[in-house]
Amino acid sequence: MNIVILAAGQGKRMRSDLPKVLHPIAGKPMLAHVIATARSLSPKRIAVVYGHGGERVREALAADDLLWAKQEPQLGTGHAVLQALPLLDPAQPTLVLYGDVPLMRADTLRELVATAGDDALALLTARLDDPCGYGRIVRIDGAIRRIVEEKDADDAERAIDEINTGILVAPTAALARWLPSLGNRNAQGEYYLTDIVALAVAEGLSVRSAQPAARWEVQGVNSKQQLAELERVHQRSVAERLLEQGVTLLDPARIDVRGELVCGRDVTIDVGCVFEGRVELADGVGVGPNCVLKDVGVGAGTRIHAFCHLESAKVGAGNVIGPYARLRPGAQLGSDVHVGNFVEIKNSTIADHSKANHLAYIGDATVGSRVNVGAGTITCNYDGANKHRTVIEDDVFIGSDTQLVAPVTVGRGATLGAGTTLTRDAPADQLTVSRARQTSVPGWKRPQKTKKD
Ligand code: UD1
Ligand code: CA
Repeated sequence: MNIVILAAGQGKRMRSDLPKVLHPIAGKPMLAHVIATARSLSPKRIAVVYGHGGERVREALAADDLLWAKQEPQLGTGHAVLQALPLLDPAQPTLVLYGDVPLMRADTLRELVATAGDDALALLTARLDDPCGYGRIVRIDGAIRRIVEEKDADDAERAIDEINTGILVAPTAALARWLPSLGNRNAQGEYYLTDIVALAVAEGLSVRSAQPAARWEVQGVNSKQQLAELERVHQRSVAERLLEQGVTLLDPARIDVRGELVCGRDVTIDVGCVFEGRVELADGVGVGPNCVLKDVGVGAGTRIHAFCHLESAKVGAGNVIGPYARLRPGAQLGSDVHVGNFVEIKNSTIADHSKANHLAYIGDATVGSRVNVGAGTITCNYDGANKHRTVIEDDVFIGSDTQLVAPVTVGRGATLGAGTTLTRDAPADQLTVSRARQTSVPGWKRPQKTKKD
C-alpha cells in the first residue's frame, strides 16, 4: 500500500514557533511517531504532505524512505492528499494518516487496511460522548452515505455520535478520479477529503468502517493541553509494558521513558526517573528516585541511589552509584565500583573495586583497580587550551583534597598524601606528598581587642 501523512496544518492553538508536528511526545516529534507506525506496516511508499513550518519539518525528519509533497497554500485535507497523488503507486490502495495524531496503533491500521481490501473505501470511525468539532458519519439503514463537517452540519447531523477520525484507506486510482473534482463550497471554503465518501457512494463503491481499540489512538493534538494528555497516555502504556515484563515501578504514573528502556529481571525503578535515548538495565539493577539516565548501560546488581545524572556512560555490575553522582559521556566503570555523592566522572575508565565516595572530579583519567580516591580529589585535566590525561595505576591511595595536574601518572601502589598538588609523576609504592611543612609557634598569643571605656 501507499501511506500519505498529512502534516501541513499550522497548529495555531499550540501558540508556538515550532511547527505543530515537531512538538515532541516522549522526546520525539509527533510526526516521527506517525512515521514509525507507518514504517511498521511496510508500505510501498510513504509520502508526507508538509507546508507550515516548511523545510524545518522536512529537515527534522529527512530519511531515504520518505517522499515529500509541499502543500502551499493549505486549502484543505482533500487538497493535501491531491499534492501527494503523483508520488503514489496507483495500483495499490492508499492509507491516509495525520501527523498530529501520534499514538495510532499499527494493529488498528492493519485492521482498517484489511477492511478496505483492494477496492473499497474504509474509514476509521469512533463513537464519542462528545462528538463536537468532528466530522459526523451519516448512515442510512446502517450504510455510510457521506461525512458532514461540524460547521456544515444541521442539528440532526450534529446529534450523530459516530465521528470521522480522519484516517481512511482508499483505492488510489479512485482518489485520482475524486480529488481533482472536489469543490470548496462549504462553511470553511476548503477542499474536504471527507467529500470523497459521497463520491464513492455515488459510484456504487463499497464504503466500510473499522474502529480503534482505544479512544486515545485517534486523539489529535491541537493544543498544549492535548499534547500533555497524550504524553501521559503514552507514558502510561510504556509503564504498563515494563510492569508486564516484571519490572518493579514504585509508581507507574511517575516514570518517563523518552527512548528505549531495556530491563533485565528484577529491576526496580523508584519514582521520578527519566530515561532518554537507549538505556539498558541488567538483572537486579535498582534505580533510586529522581535519576536521569541517558544512553547508559548498567550492569547486573548495580544500585543507583537518588538524584543521579548519567549520560553516555557504561556502568559495570555490582556498583553503588550516588546519591548525587554525575557520570558524563565516556565514563566507564568496571565492577564493584563505588561512586558517591557529588562525584563527577567524565571520559574516564575506572577499573574494578575502586572507590571515589565523596566530592571528586575525575576527567580524562584512567583509574586502575582497588584505587581509593579521597574526598575533594580533582584531576586538573584542562590547561585552558588542551585536555590532558591522568593515569592512576592499580592499588593507589589518594589522600583527600589532592589535585592531579595532568598529564601525570601515579604508579602502582603509590600513596598521595592529603592536600598534595601533583605536578610530576608519583613513583610506585611510595608516599608522595607536596605540602608546606607544618609548624607551631610556642608562646604565640592571639591578638586581643583593646577595651575602650
Ligand atoms: C478533519 C476532518 C474531520 C475529522 C477531523 C478529525 C476534513 C475535511 N475533516 O477535520 O472530518 O473529524 O479531521 O480530527 O478532512 N492538513 C493539511 N493540509 C490542509 C489541511 C489540513 O495537511 O490543507 C492536515 C493537518 O495538518 C492535520 C490534518 O490534515 O494533520 C487534519 O486537519 P485539521 O484542520 O485538523 O482537520 P479538521 O478540520 O479537524
Ligand atoms: Ca484537527
